[in-house]
Amino acid sequence: MWNDRLDRLQEFPFRRLAELLAGIDPPPGETFDLTIGEPRHQPPPLLAEVVARHAHEWNRYPPLNGTAAFRRAVCAWLARRYHLPPEALDPERHVLPVAGTKEALFLLPEVLVPERPEGPRPAVLVPNPVYAVYVGAAVLAGAEPVHLPATRETGFLPDLDALEPALLERTAALYLCSPANPQGAVADLAYWRHAIRLARRYGFVLLADECYAELYDREPPPGVLEAAWAEGRSFAGVLAFHSLSKRSSAAGLRSGFVAGDPEVLARFLRLRAYAAAVQPLPLMAAATALWAEESHVEANRALYRRKFDIAERRLSNRFGFYRPAGGFFLWLEVGDGEAATVELWRRGGVKVLPGGYLAVPDREGRNPARGYVRLAMVHDEATIERALDRLVEVLG
Ligand SMILES: Cc1ncc(COP(=O)(O)O)c(C=O)c1O
Repeated sequence: MWNDRLDRLQEFPFRRLAELLAGIDPPPGETFDLTIGEPRHQPPPLLAEVVARHAHEWNRYPPLNGTAAFRRAVCAWLARRYHLPPEALDPERHVLPVAGTKEALFLLPEVLVPERPEGPRPAVLVPNPVYAVYVGAAVLAGAEPVHLPATRETGFLPDLDALEPALLERTAALYLCSPANPQGAVADLAYWRHAIRLARRYGFVLLADECYAELYDREPPPGVLEAAWAEGRSFAGVLAFHSLSKRSSAAGLRSGFVAGDPEVLARFLRLRAYAAAVQPLPLMAAATALWAEESHVEANRALYRRKFDIAERRLSNRFGFYRPAGGFFLWLEVGDGEAATVELWRRGGVKVLPGGYLAVPDREGRNPARGYVRLAMVHDEATIERALDRLVEVLG
């Protein structure tokens, strides 16, 4: 089944970028790769220390639902971060570890999309532009991915009022990302509550990708779980995805969790018994320690803020610059994103991602992200400063 469906998917954005830039040489000297959202800050020493302390556990198969210590640490973090009462989350029912949120975001629709040979085709709603994994997940689960514009006009989040009841009735899942990749927009509590009410009324599951939740500029972004708790003290119809990849600059640890609706999580666990990457115990012990430690996260945020300060000084009044409320990307309006990407590489040695590669054309054939490029602000400050200077030189 996946074999046939795979052909319906676009190439991953980075493959398309490699094709666009094939045969184009940058000028001699320093080059800057601002394409991949891979943290360049280091995780705290705590990570390696705990892994070393748990070296005697490499012989053991890890339990599918993780360790009790991990689940407790996650529930304690969620309660602190999202102002939940201690009784709201049960570590035995409301949380599962995942080997990075990517795999969980991909696999979840497999337990949500109904097999429906007759009748309306199940839909999975995704923002446009979008993290490509949501689309792959929808298509490979046999659903129709329906792209919801998330443009400057809609505040860079999908307009929930624009959703037709006929579409909502056949919806199996809605992906939302806050802080959003690529735009950095943050959903407020009212927005989350609106999405939750829709999910419950129409019987679909809200998949809230909050993997950038800990990288924010001023205010901590509100989360879907606190909104769900406010909507009837229940997590029904809601799942939140959190990761250590960005929070602790530990993308290589492949560690995250999914929390929320206990019935969906029970089905997800059943699926995971057959097919899912489990996290080795020494790594899970490190993850447990990281969720319980905040000072490294504060230090991490401070580093990103300083880089956005640099960007603000260099770019304000240019390229539709705005300071994103969260995440670590700049989303710049440059006219023609592909042309700007080629010029930046050829003349400036700066590699960025054309915004259009993160989106699909709308009904009128217009790609809403065509005019944008995405920059990952992952390098150190001095490197970012030099890269942005080059960008200004090349694009004016
Ligand atoms: C929007 C979004 N969601 C999820 C992920 C996956 O993160 P991880 O699998 O490292 O937790 C990424 C990674 O880049 C992302 O940008």
